[in-house]
Amino acid sequence: MRYRTRALLAGALLLCSTRPALAAVGSLGAMPPPRRAGHTLTFRNAQGSVAVTAVAPDIVRVRFVAAQSFGRDHSYAIAKRDFGDPGARFESDAQRSILSTSSLRVTLRHAPFRITFADAQGRILDQDDDERGMSFAGTQVKVSKRLRDDEHVLGLGEKNGRLDKRGPHMGGANYVMWTTDAYDYGDDSDPLYAAIPFYMIVRQGRAHGIFLDNTFRSFFDVGHESERRLSFGAEDGELDYYFIDGPDPKHVIERYTELTGRTPLPPLWALGYHQCRYSYYPESKVRYIADSFRVKRIPADVIWLDIHYQEGYNPFTWDPQRFPDPAKLTADLRRQGFRLVTIVDPHPKKQPGSVVYDSGLAGDHFVKNPDGSPFVAPVWPANAERNPGPSVFPDFSKPAARAWWGGLMKLYTDVGVAGIWNDMNEPAVFLDPWHSMPFDVRHDNEGQPTSHREIHNVYGQLMTRATFEGLLRHKPDERPFVLTRATFAGGQRWAAHWPGDNTSDWGHLRTSIPMLLGLGLSGYAFVGSDIGGFVGSPSAELLTRWLQLGVFYPFMRMHTAIGTDDQEPWSYGARHEEINRRAIALRYELLPHIYNTMHEASQTGLPPLRPLVLEFPSDERAYSVYDQVLFGRDLLVAPVLREAMHTRSVYLPAGDWYDFWTARRYAGGGRVELPVTLESLPIFVRAGGVVFRQPPVQHTGEIPGQPLDVSFYPAAESSASLYEDEGQGHGYLRGEFAQRRFSQKRVGGGVTIDVSAAQGTWRPSARRLRLRVLTDVAPGRVLLGGEPLPALSADNLARQARGYTRSADGFVVVELADRFDAFQLSLEP
Ligand code: GLC
Repeated sequence: MRYRTRALLAGALLLCSTRPALAAVGSLGAMPPPRRAGHTLTFRNAQGSVAVTAVAPDIVRVRFVAAQSFGRDHSYAIAKRDFGDPGARFESDAQRSILSTSSLRVTLRHAPFRITFADAQGRILDQDDDERGMSFAGTQVKVSKRLRDDEHVLGLGEKNGRLDKRGPHMGGANYVMWTTDAYDYGDDSDPLYAAIPFYMIVRQGRAHGIFLDNTFRSFFDVGHESERRLSFGAEDGELDYYFIDGPDPKHVIERYTELTGRTPLPPLWALGYHQCRYSYYPESKVRYIADSFRVKRIPADVIWLDIHYQEGYNPFTWDPQRFPDPAKLTADLRRQGFRLVTIVDPHPKKQPGSVVYDSGLAGDHFVKNPDGSPFVAPVWPANAERNPGPSVFPDFSKPAARAWWGGLMKLYTDVGVAGIWNDMNEPAVFLDPWHSMPFDVRHDNEGQPTSHREIHNVYGQLMTRATFEGLLRHKPDERPFVLTRATFAGGQRWAAHWPGDNTSDWGHLRTSIPMLLGLGLSGYAFVGSDIGGFVGSPSAELLTRWLQLGVFYPFMRMHTAIGTDDQEPWSYGARHEEINRRAIALRYELLPHIYNTMHEASQTGLPPLRPLVLEFPSDERAYSVYDQVLFGRDLLVAPVLREAMHTRSVYLPAGDWYDFWTARRYAGGGRVELPVTLESLPIFVRAGGVVFRQPPVQHTGEIPGQPLDVSFYPAAESSASLYEDEGQGHGYLRGEFAQRRFSQKRVGGGVTIDVSAAQGTWRPSARRLRLRVLTDVAPGRVLLGGEPLPALSADNLARQARGYTRSADGFVVVELADRFDAFQLSLEP
């Protein structure tokens, strides 16, 4: 709408570089032998300097500048610098130097200077392009690497297109990293909101990753200029990149997220269902929405307030007519089991006399013009119906400004707001032609002042850091929840992310999958697109299909733009209301599984939403499958993504798979064709999978006391661990959790289930445990800790202290009071 053309124009302009176009290309040429200090080899010639550092046995850092010395060693992305002794060995002769570790052999050819990364056996993983290597042009720095035909390129954060980023298609693509307010973006728009300069190469199942730690506008030419080359670089600054070894894609993600940090475990409520629109107001409307969820028995945890709750769209204010008593509103909603999240954009109005403006000015916290005056420009407050006016912008690259901003969060936590939505932080500014800040505005840059060119890409990421740290300061016993539109590598530590203003059409439903998968592969685990689409109004069918897919978005929020039709789960007639209710109820039913998978993400960086290739990297066919996902290791989800479908073709990787709904077995290694109706959401469980569920509840506050349901799908041997805790607070960091392992072994016709004693000190309120074991034939005897259990009817099972039954779909179901010591269940033939 209002800023569409500006956004497009800005995008077009940014694709042209901001530096003089004709700067001569300089190559590094020949290097004399290096000097060694610690785990670093430094090369220097008249053209520039290169430092190659063994960070860990499987991580090597390369820095290059076209200068005689390096700048400040500083990063907004890196969370961990000390990986201990990398165990590196170095050797050098006149022609080359070699750095080797237990897993890598890095050869640095001196003339012309080229780098080759190989594994310990000498198999080449990554190699500078023979003709180009590292180069510079004006302030631009760049490296060109060889791209082989059988290499898959994954990641690159939030990008359009297929899963494999080799691009349209195989003609290559040049991806740009520049955070952009890309309202109403198309399926080839680039760049979008997040800038994550990280990619992974997988060749015949063998993976490695590259992270470019440079915040200037950067680019990744994947086979575009030449199909034999992958080149990346940045407009300015150092070429500072990390090579991260596999051998498999999971290991690359684990190490990349160790380097740049991981998504912390969110509060449980944030994994529930979120209802948003631009905007719910006044207060009576919000109460009506909340009441409707409860009356209609549609589960939900969170209602969101967009910019209309504010006075004249000015952050940190409440419109006194629309929301006269925010504290009472949040308290009343809490009694109904709802939390409230409010939008807070980075553009307080320039309004002398207001606390925010005055204190920000006094503290020198705003972004400045080159002459030192505060930079002032229009954003939403300039569109206010009454007293419109321009805004000022906090300089989040200044630590004191971050602390000041964090302090302001008290205005929200004091009235019971549970989470903060940071939008417009690319930053979006209603100024032509950039639709952002002019490149020459000044930022503190943590004590080394610089222009916007260097800070633009981290502005949103640093804003979320300030918000997160502020929330934590004011509510030290709560896990902060922040959602952001713009972010940079490392931003996963502070905020969930959504890919902005998508459109209510079937294409956007489909492309949300590879986009979110790319984010997950790039370390961003807590993500979800606007369900139903933001721009426009979905048909009833599209909305239902989107909700079904959304069950498996790690972040599940419905949202729509101003002026669109009502877009609540009940807005499309009784039939759709019922199907939509079931979709959301499924989310709540699977919450133990989802929470467990998010916990795994917080420990390993592995995203809950996974492409097939993360679990099956050697399956070449899986690289072209991105209309279905894995949720964690064990669930394969193939939502219906096209209109009026009667069948759905699903690709099942090798191995057995079980229909989640019917328990029917399918042999993998090819496609199966399933009949579907509007109600269908095809889900398969991997052989050996263990699925954790509970009865659906209306909100996460109702979970305590609910039975836990653990389903085992057949395999000779398998296990899974289940993590549970209070769902909020930080006690879990001090051991207040319950984590145990559920294992199965099948020999002959018998099944042995072992449940380990729980680690951790937290225990849920008293509840039942229901173990469900899928078997081909009914067992002769079922023993719990060696004692035979009585066979009962299904009805009787819930009423007896212990016993078992066999369900019509082939599960042996055992019920008992849940306990946290080790025990064994045996099914004898
Ligand atoms: C931006 C956001 C959108 C929000 C709107 C108003 O377009 O992307 O989600 O509703 O601004 O705040």
